Amino acid sequence: MKDPWEDQEPFSTDIPVIDEQHRMISDIINLLSIAVKKNKSRENILKLLRGYMDYGNNHRAMEEEMMKKNGYPDLSRHASDHRELKNNMENLYKRVSDDNLIISQEIGKCIKDWHDCHVEIQDRAMALFLKEKGL
Ligand SMILES: [Fe+2]
Ligand SMILES: [Fe+2]
Repeated sequence: MKDPWEDQEPFSTDIPVIDEQHRMISDIINLLSIAVKKNKSRENILKLLRGYMDYGNNHRAMEEEMMKKNGYPDLSRHASDHRELKNNMENLYKRVSDDNLIISQEIGKCIKDWHDCHVEIQDRAMALFLKEKGL
């Protein structure tokens, strides 16, 4: 069977620990999309959203640590993008838990777009710099 990750070239950073975590994040987003498609309960969706948020927060903290340690010059912009992503997720989580949002396929698509856009632009730029530093 073809590895779906094969087509993910634009999202590769070529730093194994970062790519593995991005892959895990994509897997959680896929699970979330499947759960929505199968009309799973709100609790189920919230659990997956929470899992995505916790894992994503740890991942982003690790990236920020790597950037700090290696003197990445664009750290503040990258970290502010992380904060925006975190705020968007907290907002989304609150709206789903308060029953203020119809659970639809748009949720998974929205999160995937935020994640992909960040990885493709910010994370890849960071990775280029880190690789030059010998990582
Ligand atoms: Fe990342
Ligand atoms: Fe990042």
